[in-house]
Amino acid sequence: MSVLPILKDLHVRITSKCNLNCPHCYAADWFKEEEQLDFSCISDAIKQAIELGCQKVTFTGGEPLVAKSIAESIKFCFANNLRVEVETNGILINVLVDELKSDIRKVEFGISYDGENMRGNKVAEIVRKNIEKLWQLGCDIKIQTVITTINAHEIDHIFSFSQKLNIRNRVFLAHSPNGNGKTLPLRKINEWLKTVNDIKSRYPHIIVELPDLFSGGGQKKCGWGVHRCEMMSNGDITSCAPITFNHRDFVAGNIKKSSLQKIWASEHFEKIRNLSQKDFRGLCSKCMFWQTCLGACRSISYSTGGDLLSPHPFCSALLDGIKNKTIDVQLVQHVKDTIENWIKHLDDPNFEYNSEKYENIVKSQHKIL
Ligand SMILES: C[S@@+](CC[C@H](N)C(=O)[O-])C[C@H]1O[C@@H](n2cnc3c(N)ncnc32)[C@H](O)[C@@H]1O
Ligand code: SF4
Ligand code: SF4
Repeated sequence: MSVLPILKDLHVRITSKCNLNCPHCYAADWFKEEEQLDFSCISDAIKQAIELGCQKVTFTGGEPLVAKSIAESIKFCFANNLRVEVETNGILINVLVDELKSDIRKVEFGISYDGENMRGNKVAEIVRKNIEKLWQLGCDIKIQTVITTINAHEIDHIFSFSQKLNIRNRVFLAHSPNGNGKTLPLRKINEWLKTVNDIKSRYPHIIVELPDLFSGGGQKKCGWGVHRCEMMSNGDITSCAPITFNHRDFVAGNIKKSSLQKIWASEHFEKIRNLSQKDFRGLCSKCMFWQTCLGACRSISYSTGGDLLSPHPFCSALLDGIKNKTIDVQLVQHVKDTIENWIKHLDDPNFEYNSEKYENIVKSQHKIL
């Protein structure tokens, strides 16, 4: 058996409940299950994760700040010298400020802010005020934004807010069409290429999550299955919660029935670690960027292509648009040479797959061993 990689990063989906019901939310079908992890289960899982090398715990959901055990769980992490991230819709921040006192500054916040229309203007106002409050307290904040047909016209409003406070902003150019997002129309490729161009030229502080073909590489990879895993609110352990929200059998085991070490060594994770380029399908299997990109976010590919190894829909849409001449060439002018090279490689009958395993590449990119 191969040596187990470090489980550096544990995501705890502490509750399946939420105090909102956003129009793009991929977790919405899961809310009905109404499950919450209690403190004893969380602390036990964290102790086991520490044995596997854990350095950081991210609390998310659902909405983590509606969970009863959130403050106690964060305090437990700090007592064990772990970094803590909280991914939240930002409404109930005061609960944590009151409970954690000066330790609030140790929390790394990922706060969703998608403008006035996605979650309603009342919510938007509360969230802006809460972000400003945390900012004044000196907290580490990252704003997360998903661009959809509802808020695409608001990008100046959203990004000038994060720019004014000098806060990092992480942007997803499309929602995955799951949960509530199933009924929200996806934007067309020309529209999001225009958004990429606008962002790159006007808001340099923004990190846009994109396959390497568009970004030119250098983005931190999510490390699914190699150095991170997620615990769902019923104790299920998975490599990727956004897939598991909608495919409840996409799990490796359950922490209430098995040890985290056994689950981390299970076939679910073993298979991911052993993937190489030839296991992927379509464009990703013949892409010259695979070794740095690794197929980008697999939950997006899963929701549009039907399985884990489907080609990435952004790249497929780009290739279709170029071949059918429906792409506005001005929008890809700055990466014209890269794209021409990419297509040449895709069409090359002698193209050789990269045979190196996913696990080795992720480890070298993250320098975790
Ligand atoms: C599922 S929420 C959980 C944490 C918290 N409730 C919040 O809204 O930040 C985590 C992130 O997923 C994003 N998200 C929700 N649905 C999505 C979708 N269909 N595609 C991409 N991201 C989505 C949210 O906007 C949020 O930034
Ligand atoms: S995106 Fe977050 S806040 Fe909105 S419904 Fe989903 S879990 Fe709740
Ligand atoms: S085709 Fe696949 S590997 Fe290539 S850039 Fe797109 S997502 Fe990445």
